[in-house]
Amino acid sequence: MTTKTRSPLHTPLCDLLGIRYPICQAGMGWVARSALAAAVSAAGGLGVIAAVHGTPAELRDEIRRVRDATDRPFGVDVLFATIRAAGAEVERFTDQVKGWTDVALEERVPVLIAGLGNPGPVTAEAHRLGIKVMALCGNVKQARDHAQNGVDVVIAQGHEAGGHTGRIGGLVLIPAVVDAVAPTPVVAAGGLADGRGLAAALALGAVGVWMGTRFIATGEAWGHDNYKKKVVAIDEEGTVVHRGATGKPCRAVRNNFTREWEKRVGEILPFPLQAQRVGFPAALLARERGDVENGHAACGQSAGLVRDIVPAREVIERVVAEAEAVLARLGGRGSGAA
Ligand SMILES: Cc1cc2nc3c(=O)[nH]c(=O)nc-3n(C[C@H](O)[C@H](O)[C@H](O)COP(=O)(O)O)c2cc1C
Repeated sequence: MTTKTRSPLHTPLCDLLGIRYPICQAGMGWVARSALAAAVSAAGGLGVIAAVHGTPAELRDEIRRVRDATDRPFGVDVLFATIRAAGAEVERFTDQVKGWTDVALEERVPVLIAGLGNPGPVTAEAHRLGIKVMALCGNVKQARDHAQNGVDVVIAQGHEAGGHTGRIGGLVLIPAVVDAVAPTPVVAAGGLADGRGLAAALALGAVGVWMGTRFIATGEAWGHDNYKKKVVAIDEEGTVVHRGATGKPCRAVRNNFTREWEKRVGEILPFPLQAQRVGFPAALLARERGDVENGHAACGQSAGLVRDIVPAREVIERVVAEAEAVLARLGGRGSGAA
């Protein structure tokens, strides 16, 4: 791989976002901070900071750290959670969402990503400031809502994914969303951890990938070594989807925490209350203190494909080299990409 020639993996996503490779590192609470985002962006992908674990002021610091480390484009991921105030007719964004979004807009980050929920009027505001907007969906209806709202890219995420996830497998969902929202570009997510996944995503009509779990097992990811080692140690059966962490279906390492909440389903509060009361402390227990048996260790099925902890740059280089080799082997070098 040279740094001068254009990659055969070059897709419209690369032109839209100004990135070299169509690989986005997913927003991941506690895990995806400035160190990881900067490393991925510097390596030619799209690095993304997750907003969820910090205050708006901390998010601003993180954005500035990425800018100090690299001049490449990056993104900020916000969970667009809503609440309905007592007596109110319509739901509104929580104060936290408003705080993070205001910072992202004020800082004019290159890309704003809605990891959950519909960014609604924020999309038009972001566009006025020259910010690209991407939004995640788990079914075709959500994808259509995002496209109608004018987002630049829809991220179609299959059931395999770590963190919040829907019910539809990626092999069905990704091409279905591609068909439903054309000409809006679609990025594939869920279970993608290597170059075969990237090549497959292109074959399904996507213009790139949004990869989370693979990047947990990197040196730059924030988190205890036990957590990273757990991602490497478990196989494809080592995760489970449950609502105990946040109130919404969320995939995590199967452990004492998930087993406990599988027994307490009746006590689970609606999102985001369950996240604030249970999920946040449990996430810190696993990710900061390294208690991966009793904490909430979000993780996708693709952990079964993750076999080592490496620098983020190496993940990008391996995915690119493997995807290029797959496309060449299939006889269509570059044909899956525009
Ligand atoms: C540890 C972890 C934390 C996550 N936290 C968030 C988050 O804060 N915001 C968000 O939009 N998605 C979050 N997700 C989902 C990811 O952004 C992404 O959609 C998912 O990891 C992709 O699937 P994969 O893990 O199979 O690659 C998280 C996922 C993981 C594994």
